[in-house]
Amino acid sequence: MDSGVLVQRPFPGYEASVRVLSEEQVTTALGELFGEDAAYSAIVVGDSRKVLAQMPSGVFQSCVTSPPYWSLRDYSIAGQIGLEDSLSDYVDSLVEVFEQVRRVLRDDGTLWLNIGDGYTSGGRTWRAPDKKNPARAVDVRPPTPDGLKSKDLLGVPWRLAFALQAVRWYLRSDIVWYKPNCQPESVKDRPTRSHESLFLLSKNERYLYNYEALRGPNRRNLRTVWEINTQPCNDAHFAVFPPSLVEPCVVLGTRQGDLVLDPFFGSGTTGLVALKMSRRFVGIELNPRYAEIAERRFNGTASYG
Ligand SMILES: C[S@@+](CC[C@H](N)C(=O)[O-])C[C@H]1O[C@@H](n2cnc3c(N)ncnc32)[C@H](O)[C@@H]1O
Repeated sequence: MDSGVLVQRPFPGYEASVRVLSEEQVTTALGELFGEDAAYSAIVVGDSRKVLAQMPSGVFQSCVTSPPYWSLRDYSIAGQIGLEDSLSDYVDSLVEVFEQVRRVLRDDGTLWLNIGDGYTSGGRTWRAPDKKNPARAVDVRPPTPDGLKSKDLLGVPWRLAFALQAVRWYLRSDIVWYKPNCQPESVKDRPTRSHESLFLLSKNERYLYNYEALRGPNRRNLRTVWEINTQPCNDAHFAVFPPSLVEPCVVLGTRQGDLVLDPFFGSGTTGLVALKMSRRFVGIELNPRYAEIAERRFNGTASYG
């Protein structure tokens, strides 16, 4: 991919364009991204810890993201999060990213954090690739974490949520993303897992939350279980979140023209939704191959959603 190339605007009527930047080009593009007349969105190819460190404080209204799972895949890229030997090192890596995210958020900013869970390996050392859903294929098997037994549920979402509370984040809601079309599991000693966590966290006690912008049935306040089908993305070998999961977060957490951040951009779903809703975005993705998938989606050569 050519860094610095302007990508065509994806949705007619919206003036912002998408720029692809390398880690090194971020400092020279700060004015275009965060200045008063800023009009660009950007895909930055690099390590989110290094990229965020170059950004000014208090510029994003909201962050909507889904970090890599722990110990799922090794893409042999230096700096990738998810390959830490221990679960607590993995949580520490994510806390490091989200401390930077907290700094770059406005004082009334929010973080919408979708994070998956998993099980200890139960003594298995290998599982055949899942051809239907490559995002679920495991090629890394970590040792059972200290304090857990084989077959234990890891509890990754809550471990991370508590760790973020400890570094000043306000944990405001645990939303259950219920997936009616979840993958079947060949288990006979527990129910099939059909949900993931989506946490709403805020930088401060008071924050922007447009509760009138999205209501439940009969105009009731929105509930904490969201029923949304998953949507496979054939190009991507990681879990892509569906636009319908991102849309409520963007509507509730930002106004038109605001900047939305995704430090684990993957195929760019957060950016697509942000532009569709007349917001700008910055997405950071370590793997150039995935950044290319996102770029293709913005060029309209891959389908939306
Ligand atoms: C679960 S995927 C995100 C998928 C995304 N929500 C979508 O809809 O396509 C997590 C992404 O984080 C990226 N990643 C891992 N470590 C990273 C790091 N240190 N900095 C930036 N991106 C990283 C992975 O390459 C992967 O694409």
